[in-house]
Amino acid sequence: MKILIHPSAQKAVDCVADLLAARLRNDPASVLGLATGGTMEAVYARLIAAHRAGQASFARATSFNLDEYVGLAPDHAGSYWRYMRQHLFDQVDIDPSRAHLPRGDAADPEAEAARYEAAIVAAGDIGFQLLGLGANGHIGFNEPTSSLASLTRIKTLTRSTREANARYYDRPEDVPHLAITMGIGTIMRAQEVVLLAYGAAKSRAVAALIEGPISAACPASILQMHRRATVVIDEAAAADLTLRAYYDEVHPKGGPAAI
Ligand code: PGA
Repeated sequence: MKILIHPSAQKAVDCVADLLAARLRNDPASVLGLATGGTMEAVYARLIAAHRAGQASFARATSFNLDEYVGLAPDHAGSYWRYMRQHLFDQVDIDPSRAHLPRGDAADPEAEAARYEAAIVAAGDIGFQLLGLGANGHIGFNEPTSSLASLTRIKTLTRSTREANARYYDRPEDVPHLAITMGIGTIMRAQEVVLLAYGAAKSRAVAALIEGPISAACPASILQMHRRATVVIDEAAAADLTLRAYYDEVHPKGGPAAI
């Protein structure tokens, strides 16, 4: 696992956006796994700027988002489809027909989850998977105790996740209880995984992810088993790491390997 600790959240954001832009330049027809949440807004802002500067084109890319709330149509203000249009899709050259999210309003959500998993397989699986991190250690909406071998399916959100996302809704009771999420097994099939977390609220989850036992109690800890996983964090999110000196020695200030 590559661990890049940056001096600021903005530098961590820039690092992740630059990794994705570089991937698009090396492989313009990349299959991207995309994430939502507050963490990613700044990443997408930098990618939009890179696109406008002619440094990133999504024209030949395909994307699959991690998750969507069950019950929300794509035009719902709280849907992740809406989030993606607002923060990325409407401002870059991605082909909307190749920008995929699960349909939250599908009549049969379980069938929709199976269809989504099959679509990812048919695309040859994810090439570059972007991940945020829940304060409870979730990736996608794979909450603690999710099977580490799971595929795309319906998950019940924890109370802490609903509370963390309540800021996007008028009333707390409007936050959906269920989501369709790529499984942990789905994510683990990606060629390359880049996880971004910043801020003190994530420091315990970051320590469990990097240094804890591999456990469904912290779903992100499965990334210890991924052959090409990069964890990009800031100082605040690194606060609970025990082997900090080693990470700094290998990648000073989150930069290229020093040795
Ligand atoms: P956040 O969510 O970026 O809004 O903190 C991350 C996550 O829950 O995966």
